[in-house]
Amino acid sequence: MAKTVTLKDDESGKSWKFPVLGGTTGPDVVDIRKFYAETDMFTYDPGYTSTGSCESKITFIDGDKGVLLHRGYPIEDLAEKCNFEEVAFLMLTGELPDAKAKKQFQHDITYHTMLHEQLHSFYSGFRRDAHPMAVMCGVVGALSAFYHDSLDINNPDHRKISSYRLIAKMPTIAAWAYKYSLGQPFIYPRNDLGYAENFLYMMFATPCEEYKVNPILAKAMDRILILHADHEQNASTSTVRLAGSSGANPFACIAAGIASLWGPAHGGANEAVLNMLKEIGDKKRIPEFVKRAKDKNDNFRLMGFGHRVYKNYDPRARIMAKTCSEVLSELKIKNNALLDIAVELERIALEDDYFIEKKLYPNVDFYSGIIFQAMGIPVTMFTALFALARTTGWIAQWREMIEDPQQKIGRPRQLYTGQTKRKFVPLAKR
Ligand code: SDX
Repeated sequence: MAKTVTLKDDESGKSWKFPVLGGTTGPDVVDIRKFYAETDMFTYDPGYTSTGSCESKITFIDGDKGVLLHRGYPIEDLAEKCNFEEVAFLMLTGELPDAKAKKQFQHDITYHTMLHEQLHSFYSGFRRDAHPMAVMCGVVGALSAFYHDSLDINNPDHRKISSYRLIAKMPTIAAWAYKYSLGQPFIYPRNDLGYAENFLYMMFATPCEEYKVNPILAKAMDRILILHADHEQNASTSTVRLAGSSGANPFACIAAGIASLWGPAHGGANEAVLNMLKEIGDKKRIPEFVKRAKDKNDNFRLMGFGHRVYKNYDPRARIMAKTCSEVLSELKIKNNALLDIAVELERIALEDDYFIEKKLYPNVDFYSGIIFQAMGIPVTMFTALFALARTTGWIAQWREMIEDPQQKIGRPRQLYTGQTKRKFVPLAKR
């Protein structure tokens, strides 16, 4: 017998039944697709705190337990035992690649890492001090002007080539945004380097001398990209899905995702964490900032803390903290003042009733910036790295949405509280 729930209007006594749908794990959902047709009412959920927007098989999060699975594999296993290309393949296809498929995928991605030469002049349209996320939004959106051969979203081959192009080109686009800000020449990708290593190479090499990427840092970067690859229906992924639901091309949809990720409440938090730690400046000032974070009248929030879904420690933050100490010891950075402040801030916050009660824990952004800074990556590039990694998740979710027979254009409704119909007042009488 199919499970249902009943809604009863206490005033009229009318009631309606709605089907309950169950997944393989996680909460059931009430299917309200016919809710308006049957009740003449809308549901209301600004921020979508209790609303499932789609069916998906890519990522599962149990916020209470702090569990994150990609296609069923725990993030801890993927971060420890895979490289980014394997995880990207998993996101796109649903399975981890065997040796042959991994080699082929790495080859296919590698041979799409170059950008059209005309994009050089596109970069020069930006001010040198433009925020890299502004450059990423512009350049990624502009890619649809270069790839007319793969914009038919109903053609599976076009969807595949566009996905590969986006995944492959993001490291080049991000690294070139950094080089452009320095006034240094763009460094072309190399076909003999892995995904993360190639990115660091394009970031820090110059034409003047041989540059060898530190393998420990390449491995750390690879793991950080895995940690950021996908995260269910977060704000930027939902933006990509909504943009894609109208049939917009994948380059435009990913540009929309980049724009949404930029916000400090979302992917922009990693940059905001570093700025916050610098503003705190000294462990002695931590109580002052914790007090502000708890003050309802102060809109200051502890950046890198809290999460819409995790009401436990973000599993990615744990791995990030471990990676942070590995990178700092590899770089022989003994005392990192910002890390000391971050560790003390975490300790104080996790013992504070306000944070315990509201289940606020460090999230993925809390430690990432310290690692990036130690690697010599400027603060303004932090969210661009998040966008680089999340492109794989965005494009996997976009493809899943396009290939979902149930998908239709997203068009939410509203609770209208504005003026009802009124008589027009001509200018002379206003
Ligand atoms: C990411 O969705 C994803 O999956 C995102 C992400 C991904 O991988 O895609 O995980 C990446 O965006 C991580 C989050 C990065 N953002 C930050 O670190 C910014 C700081 N965090 C907050 O802005 C906040 O925690 C959010 C935005 C992350 C979540 O906000 P919610 O779910 O809307 O929660 P809320 O604002 O309703 O907060 C619940 C309560 C509130 O107090 P009350 O109104 O109930 O009294 O907790 C308080 C908030 O004031 N609160 C905080 C806080 N976060 C929430 N108080 C102080 N400091 C904080 N960081």
